[in-house]
Amino acid sequence: MKFLWAVSALLLSCWRAEASTAPNIFTDPIEVNNQTSATLSCNLTDSSLPIKGSHWLHNGEVIDKTRSTESSPYITLHLDKITHSSSGKYECVFLTEPEVKQTIEVKTLPHVYTHKHSEHGNENDKGVLACMSQGYPLPTTWSWYKEKDGVQQPIINGTIPKYEIKSTPNKTMLTISDLSIEDDIGDYICSGTNELGTTNDKIHLRVRSRLAALWPFLGIVAEVIILVTIIFIYEKRRKPDEVNDDDDSGSAPLKSNSTANHKDKNVRQRNSN
Ligand SMILES: *[C@@H]1O[C@H](CO)[C@@H](O)[C@H](O)[C@H]1NC(C)=O
Ligand SMILES: *[C@@H]1O[C@H](CO)[C@@H](O)[C@H](O)[C@H]1NC(C)=O
Ligand SMILES: *[C@@H]1O[C@H](CO)[C@@H](O)[C@H](O)[C@H]1NC(C)=O
Ligand SMILES: *[C@@H]1O[C@H](CO)[C@@H](O)[C@H](O)[C@H]1NC(C)=O
Repeated sequence: MKFLWAVSALLLSCWRAEASTAPNIFTDPIEVNNQTSATLSCNLTDSSLPIKGSHWLHNGEVIDKTRSTESSPYITLHLDKITHSSSGKYECVFLTEPEVKQTIEVKTLPHVYTHKHSEHGNENDKGVLACMSQGYPLPTTWSWYKEKDGVQQPIINGTIPKYEIKSTPNKTMLTISDLSIEDDIGDYICSGTNELGTTNDKIHLRVRSRLAALWPFLGIVAEVIILVTIIFIYEKRRKPDEVNDDDDSGSAPLKSNSTANHKDKNVRQRNSN
């Protein structure tokens, strides 16, 4: 039973494919590359089918102003100022029974951009830089460069463990681990390439010293340490004096030093006598 279903589904899809390709639609041009404007046209040459109308699709969505109920087998669409946002897949659709359509691809250079042209991280932390892309087709290749003395040095994923690049067609992320002030501050360039060419954007990375955030705290700690030291030294200096004063009063003549002192005193006293 399952097998029969599979076979009939296959036959149905073959029949459908044949049905939609049977009436010929000639498109002019076949595709649009790198142009600033273009006029797309479709000519349905198998006119045995009655046409109840037509419209154009852009990336699968109906372009409302192109809806028509005319039975013309030849329709056009003019594109003024083609940019990444008007690039994509255009389809002319003829409302026949069944519907027939044909695709014209309008391709531009990828639009590569970043939300943050300036990014910052803390020393020893990791820094993440990201770039996005829009347009058709999306980049098939993403590259990252570090600009040093005006020279772009490529950053290759996996060569140095410090760098990791993760990319999808519409986004790329460069992760730099263990940020260092000496090596990692600077301009980074992300670059997306599709079949028509490459476009770039640039991000400036700043790295903040870990100590920077600690300075005010360290200042207070230093002040406390100095104060405590001063008090401690002062106290230490005062105490031996007090002990000497006690010795001079003669109540503890046990230490050799103090006995010597007493002898001296005795000598002095005798001399003065
Ligand atoms: C459409 O195609 C037919 C058959 O190839 C041709 O005779 C006709 O001139 C074409 N129409 C236009 C507007 O190009
Ligand atoms: C870069 O390398 C990492 C880890 O080896 C991997 O997960 C990632 O997919 C790679 N990225 C690219 C763009 O090749
Ligand atoms: C990128 O593509 C994914 C799916 O392919 C989508 O979910 C996401 O929103 C897209 N991101 C941007 C920034 O266009
Ligand atoms: C498309 O145009 C850009 C400049 O606008 C050019 O650099 C690039 O080479 C062109 N690509 C093709 C495939 O002609």
